[in-house]
Amino acid sequence: MKAQRIFVSPSFAVVVLFVSMVVVAATAVPYSAQSAEAIQLAATAKTKAPAAKTASTEVAKPVSDILAFKDGALAPLRESEAVSEHSPFADGACDFCHKGNAKNPGPLLKAVNLLCYDCHSEFEEMMTRRAVKHAPATKLCTNCHNPHNSRNKQLLVYEQVTLCTTCHTGIKTLLDTATVKHGAMDGAKCSSCHNPHASAVEKLLIQLPFDMCVKCHSRDGLQDPAGAKLTNFKTLLENNPVWHAPVAGKDCTACHTPHGGRNFRLLVEPYPAKFYSAYEPENYALCFTCHSSSMVDVPQTTTLTGFRDGPVNLHYLHVNKSDRGRTCRACHEVHASKQAFQIRDSVPFGDKGWSLKLNFKKTTNGGSCDKTCHSMKDYDRAKK
Ligand code: HEC
Ligand code: HEC
Ligand code: HEC
Ligand code: HEC
Ligand code: HEC
Ligand code: HEC
Ligand code: HEC
Ligand code: HEC
Ligand code: HEC
Repeated sequence: MKAQRIFVSPSFAVVVLFVSMVVVAATAVPYSAQSAEAIQLAATAKTKAPAAKTASTEVAKPVSDILAFKDGALAPLRESEAVSEHSPFADGACDFCHKGNAKNPGPLLKAVNLLCYDCHSEFEEMMTRRAVKHAPATKLCTNCHNPHNSRNKQLLVYEQVTLCTTCHTGIKTLLDTATVKHGAMDGAKCSSCHNPHASAVEKLLIQLPFDMCVKCHSRDGLQDPAGAKLTNFKTLLENNPVWHAPVAGKDCTACHTPHGGRNFRLLVEPYPAKFYSAYEPENYALCFTCHSSSMVDVPQTTTLTGFRDGPVNLHYLHVNKSDRGRTCRACHEVHASKQAFQIRDSVPFGDKGWSLKLNFKKTTNGGSCDKTCHSMKDYDRAKK
C-alpha cells in the first residue's frame, strides 16, 4: 500500500490516535458520560504520549559528523591483518584514487565521496534521491570505511556497534546501562533496522517501525531470554480485529524502546510484570501516560469509568489493592483483541502455560464475566 510508506512520526501518530478516538467516541460509546471522558482522554494522550518518549529515549546528539581519524588510520593494513579488502586496492589500481602510483600514491585525485561515486554510482543516486540522509555519509565515506582494507567486514573502520556508538554516545550509554536487552541487537546489527547511508523513512529506518517490528515478531517459537514464548504478531493482529488505538496508529514505539531499556518488556514506562501486583499509580506509569489514573484511584464514581456497578468502581475493586491487585492484563489484551475495550478471551495464568478464560459478555449498560476467577458476575451502570 503506497500510503504506508510515509513514516508515522510521533505527531502524525497522535493525529491518527486523535482521529481514531473521536471515531470510537462517536460510534461505540453507549452513554454520554463516557464520551466526555473519551474526549478528555484524547487531550491527555495528545499532550502526554510524545513527552513520555523523549523522557525515556535518553539519546544525546552526536558530537560530530566527522570521526577524528588520526593521520595514518586509513592507511592500508598488512594483508595478513585484513578481514575484508577493496577490489581496486587488491588490484593495485591505486591511480583510480591517487595521483601517484603504488610506490608513491600521493594526494587524492578529487574529494573522497566523488572518488567513491565513480564506481559506486548507485550510492550517488541513493545519497541524492533519498529524503533522509546520514550526515557523516554525506560528508565523508571514509568516516566509516577504509578505502583499502580492514580488520572488519565491509571495510568498516570498527566493528559496527562500536563504529555507530563512537558518535552516538547516548545510544552507547543506553546499551551499557540497559537491564532489558533487545534480541534485535544480537549479531551486532544496527543495520537490521537502520540504513547507515540514507533512507526514505525518518531516523534512517529501513522500513516503518511497525513493519519492522511485526516482521521479526511474526514467527512462532521466538523466546525472551528467560525462555518465555513471545507472541506471533502477524497472527495476533490478523485474528484480533480490535486494535488498541496506538497499535492502530502503527506506533509500536509509543510504548516500546527499540534499543534496550530498564523496564519490563522494553516498555518506555513501568508496567507490572506479573498477574498480581501491589497498586501504586507509578507501577502503571505506562498506561497512565495516556489514560487517567483516576479510573482506578477512587472507590465510587459515576463518570470516571464505564467498568462500574452503579457507582461502585470495579476498576478500583480489582486493581487498587495493597498487595495482590489484578493487573490490567487480567482483563485487557493491550495490543489487539476480538472484543471491544481490549477485553481478552483468556489470560495466561501461572507458570504452566494454562490459560484462564474470561467469558466476557457486553450488555447495553455493562457486562458480565463467567466461569473465570469467579462464577457469573455482572455489572450494570444504571443500577442505583
Ligand atoms: C578507492 C580509492 C582508493 C584506492 C584504490 C587506493 N586508495 Fe589509498 N587512500 C584513499 C583515501 C580516500 C585515502 C585517505 C586520504 C585522505 O583522506 O586524505 C587514502 C590514503 C592512503 C594512504 C595514506 C594514509 C594516511 O592516512 O596517511 C596511503 C599510504 C595509501 N592510501 C596507499 C594506497 C595504495 C598503495 C594504493 C594502491 C595499492 C591505494 N592507496 C589505493 C583512497 C584510495
Ligand atoms: C575503481 C572502482 C572503485 C572505487 C573508486 C571505489 N570502489 Fe568500492 N568497490 C569496488 C568494487 C569493484 C567492489 C566489489 C564489488 C561490489 O561489492 O560491488 C567494491 C566494494 C566496496 C565495498 C564493500 C566491500 C565488502 O567487503 O563487502 C565498500 C564498503 C566500498 N566498496 C566502499 C567504497 C568507498 C568508501 C569508496 C570511496 C572511498 C569506494 N568504495 C570507491 C570498486 C570501487
Ligand atoms: C556511518 C557509517 C557509514 C558511512 C559514513 C558510510 N557507510 Fe557504507 N556501510 C556502512 C555499514 C555499517 C555497512 C554495512 C551495512 C549492512 O550490514 O547492511 C556499509 C556498507 C557499504 C557497502 C557495501 C554494501 C552495500 O550496501 O552495497 C558499500 C558499497 C558502501 N557501504 C559504500 C559507502 C559509500 C560510497 C559511502 C559514502 C557515500 C559510505 N558507504 C558511507 C556504514 C557507513
Ligand atoms: C562520524 C559520526 C557518526 C557515525 C560513525 C555514525 N553516526 Fe549516525 N549520525 C551522526 C550525525 C552527526 C547525525 C545527525 C544528527 C542530527 O541531525 O541530530 C546522525 C544521525 C543518525 C540517525 C538519525 C537520528 C535522528 O534523530 O534523525 C540515526 C538513526 C543514526 N545516525 C544511526 C547511525 C548508525 C546505525 C550508525 C552506524 C552504522 C551511525 N549512525 C554512525 C553521526 C554519526
Ligand atoms: C531484527 C529482528 C527484530 C526486530 C526488527 C524487532 N525485534 Fe523485538 N525481539 C527480537 C528477538 C530475537 C527477541 C527475543 C530475544 C529477546 O527478548 O531479547 C525480541 C524481543 C522483543 C521484546 C521482549 C523483550 C524482553 O526481553 O522482554 C519486545 C517487547 C520486543 N522485541 C519489541 C519489539 C519492537 C517494539 C520492535 C520494533 C521497534 C521490535 N521488537 C523489532 C527481534 C526483533
Ligand atoms: C529493532 C530495530 C532497531 C535496531 C536494531 C536499532 N535501532 Fe535505532 N532506532 C529504531 C527505531 C524504531 C528508532 C526510532 C525511535 C522513535 O521514533 O521513537 C530508532 C532511532 C535511533 C536513533 C535516533 C535517536 C532516537 O533514539 O530516537 C539513533 C541515533 C539510533 N536509532 C541509532 C541506533 C544504533 C547506533 C543502533 C545499533 C547499536 C541501532 N539504532 C539499532 C530501531 C532500531
Ligand atoms: C499501548 C502500549 C503498547 C503498544 C502500542 C505496543 N505494545 Fe507491545 N507490549 C505492551 C505491554 C504492556 C506489554 C506487556 C504485556 C503483558 O505482559 O501483559 C507488551 C509486550 C510486548 C511483547 C512481548 C510479549 C509478547 O507477548 O510477545 C512484544 C514482542 C511486543 N509487545 C511487541 C509489540 C509490537 C510489535 C507492537 C506494535 C505492533 C507493540 N508491541 C505495541 C504495550 C504496548
Ligand atoms: C500512547 C498512549 C496510550 C498508552 C500508553 C495506553 N493507551 Fe490505552 N488507549 C489509548 C487511546 C488513544 C485509546 C482510545 C481511547 C478511547 O477510545 O477512548 C485507548 C483505549 C484503551 C482501551 C479501550 C477503551 C475503549 O473505549 O475501547 C483500553 C482497555 C486501554 N486503552 C487500556 C490500556 C492499558 C491497559 C494500557 C497500559 C498497558 C494502555 N491502554 C496504554 C492510548 C494509550
Ligand atoms: C477485572 C477486569 C479488569 C481489569 C483488571 C482492568 N480492567 Fe479496564 N475495563 C474492564 C472492563 C470490563 C471494561 C469495559 C467497561 C464498560 O463496560 O464500559 C474496562 C474498560 C477500560 C477502559 C475504557 C474506559 C473505562 O474506564 O471504561 C480503559 C481505558 C481501561 N479499562 C483501562 C484499564 C487499565 C489501565 C487497567 C489496569 C490499571 C485496567 N483497565 C484493569 C475490565 C478490567
